Amino acid sequence: MHRFEPCLNFIGGRWCEPKTGQYGDNVNPANGEVLGVWARSGADDLDDAVRAAREAQAAWRLVPAPERAKVLRRVADLLRDRKDEIARTLTMEMGKVIEEARGEVQEAIDMADYMAGEGRRLFGQTTPSELPDKFAMSVRAPVGVVGIITPWNFPIAIASWKSLPAIVAGNAVVWKPAEETPLTARAFAEVYQEAGLPAGVLNVVFGDGPVVGEAMLSHPGIDVISFTGSTETGRHIASRAGANLKRVSLEMGGKNAITVLADADLDLAVDAIVWSAYGTSGQRCTAASRVIVEREVEEALLARLLPRVQALRVGDGLDPAVHVGPVIHEEALAKIDRYVRIGVDEGARLMTGGRRLTEGTLAQGYYYAPTVFAGVRPDMRIAQEEIFGPVLCVMAVDSFEEAIRVNNGVKYGLSASIFTRDVNRVFRAMRDLDTGIVYVNAGTTGAEIHLPFGGTKATGNGHRDSGQAALDVFTEWKTVYVDYSGRLQRAQIDNN
Ligand code: UN1
Repeated sequence: MHRFEPCLNFIGGRWCEPKTGQYGDNVNPANGEVLGVWARSGADDLDDAVRAAREAQAAWRLVPAPERAKVLRRVADLLRDRKDEIARTLTMEMGKVIEEARGEVQEAIDMADYMAGEGRRLFGQTTPSELPDKFAMSVRAPVGVVGIITPWNFPIAIASWKSLPAIVAGNAVVWKPAEETPLTARAFAEVYQEAGLPAGVLNVVFGDGPVVGEAMLSHPGIDVISFTGSTETGRHIASRAGANLKRVSLEMGGKNAITVLADADLDLAVDAIVWSAYGTSGQRCTAASRVIVEREVEEALLARLLPRVQALRVGDGLDPAVHVGPVIHEEALAKIDRYVRIGVDEGARLMTGGRRLTEGTLAQGYYYAPTVFAGVRPDMRIAQEEIFGPVLCVMAVDSFEEAIRVNNGVKYGLSASIFTRDVNRVFRAMRDLDTGIVYVNAGTTGAEIHLPFGGTKATGNGHRDSGQAALDVFTEWKTVYVDYSGRLQRAQIDNN
């Protein structure tokens, strides 16, 4: 008997079995327990969802935005009521420790509150016309049906970043959640339903990326694709969906660094490094996987860092005494371990960790020891490629300029952090770090929902989640001219 009921699709306001009749297992990475099953849908199920979304959107776009926002306000309240329960579910299906899971649910609550406020803003622009008795403005119009594809590492926060702005702006949503986190997705859909969102405005289709995700990319009823996940998948999505002239917003990989200059508060830097490198077992796209340290303080930093890393308690994230939970699955564990071997072969010094943890009950889950490499050169693969696990590379540099160069010398550009007390260097770093997010005297994680979230280079394609910027992904600018002169007025001609 499974602990949870099957996760069914949510289409047109109803919970539906997949037409394929197939289901996939939902496994707790902490102990291998099968929590339940999820609908392994096919293209027919997606078709139904898109049809429901199109029908619902025709009415939803005409609901005044402040009325739409009332639903979002109830979403926020219901999430607040269910915060603990959803956090526990989230920990069980993807492994992050319970305190972080609660923080993640809070991120969705914050986003619902913030986007509910947008219902009374959704600002456009008015500007004078160049002709007399003529009015000019631009307004935000919904795009139509938005397809969102979300990852398992932030199963409710990222879904909230994408669905809430889309919905308040008058779109309908077809959502394919990650295969690994169906229970969290179902809980979020239940909240929308209970909040009174009209049937069909949000639809959930569970399934495999290569089937349901793939079908979304060419579906004529979907206007926008918003995706968070790997750069490899994002590249495929952009080319496929781009060929069908869909707007595509991508949030992808990172190889984020914390730079520690010689004048930094080393204890503070170590606190931040431990939090940003090993939080969510290093499985954040914002995780710090590199430390760039001025050589004169390298030894002092390592002397403080290593005991802290060794003291991290690894285990089931439901145990409040645990600092680091499991990684998501066996393949992730194998990939992390492969990279550790690569690092050793490349000549990096393995200072701690570097192995799977199998003592006692840990053997039943997917646990990796928090790992630190020192003596890492910027051209090593472990310093260039996204590992997505609890592995940190420490690199020594001889100057501030070299630190900036090393930070920028990777293909990704999500988040960067610098520790220093030198205000001139702070401002230079703010200007020269080539990432979408820069932190000063804080780690690389911890973005807040009312600011743009996203990155440069292979991390993104120019769009941003979260903040006002999210509205740009989910709206069209409609420019309106009203000529009340009663005669033909030709712009550029009659007035020149
Ligand atoms: C992600 O890893 O994909 O800034 C999102 C942070 C979180 C969001 C991370 N608020 O680390």
